[in-house]
Amino acid sequence: VSLKLHNTFGVEVSARYFAEVHSEEELISVLRNYRRLQKNNPPIPLLFLGGGSNVLFLHDFTGLVIKLNIKGIKEEIIDDNHVLISSGAGENWHDFVMYCLEKNYGGLENLSLIPGNVGTSPMQNIGAYGTEIKDHFVECKVLNLETLEIEYFNKEECRFGYRESVFKREGKGKYVILEVSFSLTTHQHLVKTGYGAIQQELETMNVENPTIQDVSAAVISIRKSKLPDPSITGNAGSFFKNPTIPLTQFENLQKENPDMPSYPAGHLVKIPAGWLIEQCGWKGRQSGNVGCHELQALVIVNATGNASGQEIYDFSEQIIHSVQEKFGIVLEREVNII
Ligand code: EPU
Repeated sequence: VSLKLHNTFGVEVSARYFAEVHSEEELISVLRNYRRLQKNNPPIPLLFLGGGSNVLFLHDFTGLVIKLNIKGIKEEIIDDNHVLISSGAGENWHDFVMYCLEKNYGGLENLSLIPGNVGTSPMQNIGAYGTEIKDHFVECKVLNLETLEIEYFNKEECRFGYRESVFKREGKGKYVILEVSFSLTTHQHLVKTGYGAIQQELETMNVENPTIQDVSAAVISIRKSKLPDPSITGNAGSFFKNPTIPLTQFENLQKENPDMPSYPAGHLVKIPAGWLIEQCGWKGRQSGNVGCHELQALVIVNATGNASGQEIYDFSEQIIHSVQEKFGIVLEREVNII
């Protein structure tokens, strides 16, 4: 089965077995069959796929890919200003955010237009423009792959960090996220416009007292203006994480690069990877089928639509080398390499 339509890089790879599941019951039954198949065969690798917006396949997948398409949104009033809203893992993230905004539920508006599905949002604690999902996350319902039993992870148990969670670390490969719940505001919203780009955009839009819907419109406009649309040009959003470095290293680098942007990150300093990559001359550069996006250097694109996973990986490897050579900083990939 071709996975081209199941990864936003649009890489042409195939899976030996492929199943799309629409409910918990279907998922459990597919997993039981998988176990039976496993018994008399050499190990068959297993991979769960949501929106495919954060994966890079290097070659054909020789095992079973399970695409999670569990849908449905439920809500429950918590108090006079909060609603608990739970979404199936297979809902598209942006559609879910739009659904919340139509009902005037506040909290997720800064996360408009992030690609992917609701079920993968906790994996890397998706974040943008001053908000991360952990700010509104309540719990997620998961399937334990060993026991095939349902469990719940609260916020603390998810151990969220910058683009991090238990599901990328100790829990990796052990659970499948089935449903995610958020606590959102119903009347008094906390409108977050602290991020410079949002303020500018709202000014351009001539909005004085922004609503949550205005913030969403501003975010959509900013993202559209500098991030490539994966349905047109294959990409997986930020390819790298923004690195954090010790203060002393930062001060040394700052001597030679006085205009280097930075943000405080605890006792460390966070540097935008996009800036580092741009300084190394990669922004807008193309090599074969792969390119570094001309408006945001943090994004690697399948420029011709014909790039292989390996080509994209090799390109990213070159970027890592040149940033390391120039700045002594080793960039870490945000995208999962399969
Ligand atoms: N910059 C450059 N050149 C570039 C890109 C960025 O110099 O080509 C510098 C500029 O100084 C700019 C700063 O980096 O002011 C920050 O850029 P931007 O606001 O675009 O944010 P980012 O740090 O590059 C992060 C997230 C994005 C998220 C934006 C907005 C990561 C890895 N990426 O990017 O997330 O949308 O902030 O909050 O943290 C994603 O994860 O897929 C993603 C797009």
